Amino acid sequence: MAKIVVVGTGYVGLVTGIALAEIGNYVHCIDIDENKIRLLNSGVPTIYEENLEDLLLKNLKDKRISFTESYICVEDADFVFITVGTPEDKNGDANLTYIYNAIDEITKYVQNDTVIVMKSTVPLGTNEKIEKYIKNKVKDYTVDVISNPEFLAQGTAINDTLNASRIVLGINDEKIVDKVKKLYEPFNQPILVMNRTSAELVKYASNTFLALKISFINEIANLSDEIGANIKDVTRGMSYDERIGAKFLNAGLGYGGSCFPKDTKALIKAAQRNNSSLLTINSTVDINERQKYKLLDKAKRKGYSLENNTIAILGLSFKPNTDDIREAPSISNIQQLLDKGNKIHVFDPIVNDKVKKLFGDQLEYFKTPQECLKGTDLCFVFTEWKEIKELEEKDFIVNMKRAVVFDGRNCLEFKSNNIAYYGIGI
Ligand code: UDX
Repeated sequence: MAKIVVVGTGYVGLVTGIALAEIGNYVHCIDIDENKIRLLNSGVPTIYEENLEDLLLKNLKDKRISFTESYICVEDADFVFITVGTPEDKNGDANLTYIYNAIDEITKYVQNDTVIVMKSTVPLGTNEKIEKYIKNKVKDYTVDVISNPEFLAQGTAINDTLNASRIVLGINDEKIVDKVKKLYEPFNQPILVMNRTSAELVKYASNTFLALKISFINEIANLSDEIGANIKDVTRGMSYDERIGAKFLNAGLGYGGSCFPKDTKALIKAAQRNNSSLLTINSTVDINERQKYKLLDKAKRKGYSLENNTIAILGLSFKPNTDDIREAPSISNIQQLLDKGNKIHVFDPIVNDKVKKLFGDQLEYFKTPQECLKGTDLCFVFTEWKEIKELEEKDFIVNMKRAVVFDGRNCLEFKSNNIAYYGIGI
């Protein structure tokens, strides 16, 4: 069993660490956040993910995982995974400060030949540069850098890691490939080997392609709105063609989260720097930017006033089963509605504190969707949480002043016409 260090205990780091411990390795997860380390060592998850708490507790008990602020564990590590954030900077580039901080710390402590496994999404060519950077600093040991992009999605992160569609390994060195392949063998997942830059590009191309599918279907949904087609029927009709498929063709308010918005822009930048252009991705980003506000636009077009009303907001996170509100359409729309003097009720099954930090007591927070709907003029759905999808006609009719629902995720279905219901492309 390998000794593994994971640097950066956010979504990717924590889930990767737990998965590697689960298959029998000894894992130290490093983070600069003292509070996070304390919580995780006492078995309290710092993110919301299905099954994470059970696996965390199990592997803590079996002493296969531990959390620390110190890099001393790097000394005898066989593998050092890097899973720190690469946030978007002001220019749309990926900010590599956390990556280089981590590399500087690792190189201070390394006492062995070791392999750095880069899981963070980094600009094309970065792994090559990092290996050269390390070679200048560490003379006594061999430190190889392998690109190993991560494809997990929030909300299904544990399952995505334990049952990944593929493991991509980027390095032109058979010995290192064999080492890393052995580490991943217990997962029994397809392993694809290629050079570093190709591996880096697989990640960007996959994410931007998925984002492109979403923006494409959103444009078709907007057209459906104009001509009286129903986007759900249109996608159903398309999806029987196996070349098209049904996945990532749900129309709505566009993509949010920490990956698609950042990676689409970073790939555009990379193309520009390399005298290429990505016209499809430029449009993907533009469409997504506009799509966020389609629900409010639709309400106005249908003749509803968005001033001085009481409005129910159902769902705050950028997608269900996560407490992440990064680039969530709910946030920018709430701000617009507040600016127009509306009184806002909000409900989300788990997000509250993060939104309270942003809006404080400008919003009223409710524990159930029914209470949230009480006395409201209009309802806007921003996230397709199970608790929201399962709402029935009567929940709206009994609680709202008049049942008017704008569904930004096309997740509700009503049999009668007792509710004024509007979706995106419906
Ligand atoms: C994504 C990728 O799926 C994952 O492989 C990568 O590693 C990180 O980025 P994530 O951001 O967690 O994962 O969420 P995902 O489920 O892909 O959804 C992204 C956004 O697209 C969400 O805002 C979601 O609401 C939206 N979306 C998704 C749609 O609007 N329509 C769809 O059909 C699918």
